[in-house]
Parts: sequence; structure tokens; C-alpha cells
Amino acid sequence: MTDSRFEAGELVLLTSQKGKTWLVRAGEGPFSSHLGNVDLNDVVGRQEGECLETNQGAKVFLFRPSLTDYVFKLKRKTQIIYPKDMGAFVVYGDIRPGDRVLESGIGSGALTLALLRAVGPTGTVVSVEKRPEFAQLARRHIERFLGRPPKNHRLVVGDIESVPLRCTVDRLVLDVPEPWHAVGPASRQLRTGGLLISWSPNVGQVQLVCRELKAHGFANVTTFELLKRNWKIDERRARPEDRMVAHTGFITVAKKIVRTVGETPPAIRDPEAPVPR
Ligand SMILES: C[S@@+](CC[C@H](N)C(=O)[O-])C[C@H]1O[C@@H](n2cnc3c(N)ncnc32)[C@H](O)[C@@H]1O
Repeated sequence: MTDSRFEAGELVLLTSQKGKTWLVRAGEGPFSSHLGNVDLNDVVGRQEGECLETNQGAKVFLFRPSLTDYVFKLKRKTQIIYPKDMGAFVVYGDIRPGDRVLESGIGSGALTLALLRAVGPTGTVVSVEKRPEFAQLARRHIERFLGRPPKNHRLVVGDIESVPLRCTVDRLVLDVPEPWHAVGPASRQLRTGGLLISWSPNVGQVQLVCRELKAHGFANVTTFELLKRNWKIDERRARPEDRMVAHTGFITVAKKIVRTVGETPPAIRDPEAPVPR
């Protein structure tokens, strides 16, 4: 995006000086909060980072919502993948521009937005969602953020364990409550050498997934979790915040290999793990 001036209809993240935020649209008319009123028609033509003054003299800054800002503003009817974990899906799942990605389920569409961004216009994302109401909700969330239905997204209402799909993909992304049931059927769509990335909040789920992955010709099975701790930094303090989101879920990444009966898959070490002495 080169011109950073807001156009009518664009999403705007109004941000107070204390950091409270509201997601609105430029040109939408009057907007009221505890800080007073502003006219959102006044946002049109302004630049990101400028501010408006409310009728009570408070300042509200104008920003385009980042993906992180946006996903925390979604009307979430399902658990979503948090941004810290989205980053891991993309990097440890090695999701690249041009990749074909199959994901299930779509839930609120948060992770789908990160996947669409990672594969870019030359890639594709196919989302399989069993519940039509979540498919519809996610579609609305995606279109609202992107401003239009993305051309590189296909949404299929069905069960990932049985839906017939005619596609071969580079990456398979699972965020369903029982991913171990999906590993066998969905991995038929995954090309050899392709990566599967699965997310589960409970370690019992992860154990079942890992067992199934090994039974279906996957190697290099790695499971990890990521902890994000914010810090308070100002003139007086430099220390971690008292509270944090201590747990979201475990991420399992595995690589599909060509398997010959009786052959043991290669043991691949995590390059980030410390080398044993
Ligand atoms: C936790 S939500 C996914 C959240 C999503 N990743 C996000 O970031 O917004 C899990 C979704 O999987 C769907 N689901 C559960 N079992 C499924 C199955 N067998 N096939 C397809 N979708 C399924 C649920 O309906 C739900 O929408």
C-alpha cells in the first residue's frame, strides 16, 4: 500500500491515548464513546497516525488494523489461533507464497487470514468446515478484513474425515477437536514431502495425533508450545507484566515421506534444540 490516506469504507482502528481501541469504518458517520463524539466522515482523506479530536477534547488516533488487531476484534464463536501461534504455523510449517494449503476447520477464520497472507495471490487456501454457520461467519470475517472475497480461497462445507476433495496440497493445517481422526483421510491430499501442522490445546490430543502421524508415513514429528510474555518498560520499570496468556495450545509439525514397508523413518533433529554434549 503506497498511499496511506483513508478511503470511505476502509476499516479504521480508532485508538485512544490510553490504548483503548474501536474498529470502525471511515465515512460511516457519527461515532460515540466515553471520550465523546467524532464524525467518521472526517477520517476520509487523512493519513494513518493522524488523530481526530472528540467533542470533549480527547484525541483518538487513526490506524489501519493489523491482522493481530483485527483477530482480537472478531466476534469469536470459536476458539481462535492466537497471533503468536499463527506465526509458528507459517514459519515452522514453512508456508510460502504460491503454496496450496488445505485447512480444517475454519472456525472464526482467524488462522485462514494468516494462511491467505502467507500463500499470497499465487497460492490457494482450501478450508473445510463441518458447521455451515461457522463457514458463513468466517467468510464474513475474511471479506470484512480484506475488503472483498479473496480469489485464492475455497471454502468447502463438509467433514474433513470424509469430504471428497480433488486436490493435492503442499501443506495440511488441522485445527479440529479430534485431529487424529483427520490425519489418515486428509493426508491423502498432501503431497510427499509436504508438511502437516496440527494444533491442539490438550496434550492427550497431541499424543493421539503423533501416534496417527507415525502410522501414516510421517517423519520428523515435532511438538512444541510457545509462551509469549509481555514486558512493562518505562522510566521506572523494566520487568515482565504480572499477567500473561499462559497456555494456548501445542503445535505439531510433521513431514510426509514415501514409506516402504518395514522401513524406519529418518530421525531428524530439531535444528534449534541444543546439541547434546
Ligand atoms: C477451534 S475452531 C478453528 C478455529 C480457527 N482455526 C480460527 O483460527 O479461527 C475448530 C473448527 O473445526 C470445526 N470442525 C470440527 N470437527 C470438524 C471436522 N471433522 N471437519 C471439519 N470441521 C470440523 C468446528 O466446527 C470449528 O469451526
